[in-house]
Amino acid sequence: MKAPEDVRNMKGKERIAMLTCYDSSSAALMDGMVDLILVGDSLGMVMLGYENTSGVTMDDMLRAIGAVSRGARSTLIVGDMPLGTYSTEKDALRNAGKFLDAGAHGVKIERKPGIAAFLARQGIGVMGHIGLTPQTISDFRVQGKNKEDAERLMEEARQMDEAGCFSLVLECIPLELARKITSLVSIPTIGIGAGPHCDGQVLVMHDMLGLYQKFQPKFVKRYAELGEEMKKAFIQYRDEVKSGQFPEDRHSFH
Ligand code: KIV
Repeated sequence: MKAPEDVRNMKGKERIAMLTCYDSSSAALMDGMVDLILVGDSLGMVMLGYENTSGVTMDDMLRAIGAVSRGARSTLIVGDMPLGTYSTEKDALRNAGKFLDAGAHGVKIERKPGIAAFLARQGIGVMGHIGLTPQTISDFRVQGKNKEDAERLMEEARQMDEAGCFSLVLECIPLELARKITSLVSIPTIGIGAGPHCDGQVLVMHDMLGLYQKFQPKFVKRYAELGEEMKKAFIQYRDEVKSGQFPEDRHSFH
């Protein structure tokens, strides 16, 4: 299994593939297929039906991390720390410790280079996240489009690198800015809606499988239409139950 340090060393050598995951069965299917699994707080939207990620709790995350770690035995797992759980060094350390106990091998935090540096000094693998950071941003649009914002993001990226993060998620920023940040920092950048010049990519599993149908951001590529497949299966099952076609003799006990 890769360690956070191995992921850091992939920069410039091999592109990094990361997907989100929240349950044990999907994790078992994903195990060994990607370099990292992120138990993202996007769980709030795709698993729990919230409008955004702000209602996600430590308990939600710990349960999902435990499930994913029981399914994926050989893939590095990063847990996304929910809003309000890393506001102070003390909280960050206590809650990151709970993530590691539950089966994560590293944590992701949005911005906050000071907290990232503190956790990294305690030997915890920290993935940073800048750009569109859903926990603290209400403006869900492409970030860093004007000169001032782009410069702020470059500075944030530099600080996350200096803090000792082992990688950095860049969410929803112009591809030219992502290219600049990727060459500026010593750690791998992992993009989502940040174009092809990042050192790696991440997608939300439910988006790339066509399971989350409320909306589809421009940056999502659907690799399967499992939502449609599920609907077909549900309809066929219902019809076969109603017509008496299911169960057959081979599904029954004598
Ligand atoms: O929660 C999540 O899924 C994320 C990714 C979008 C990077 O933070």
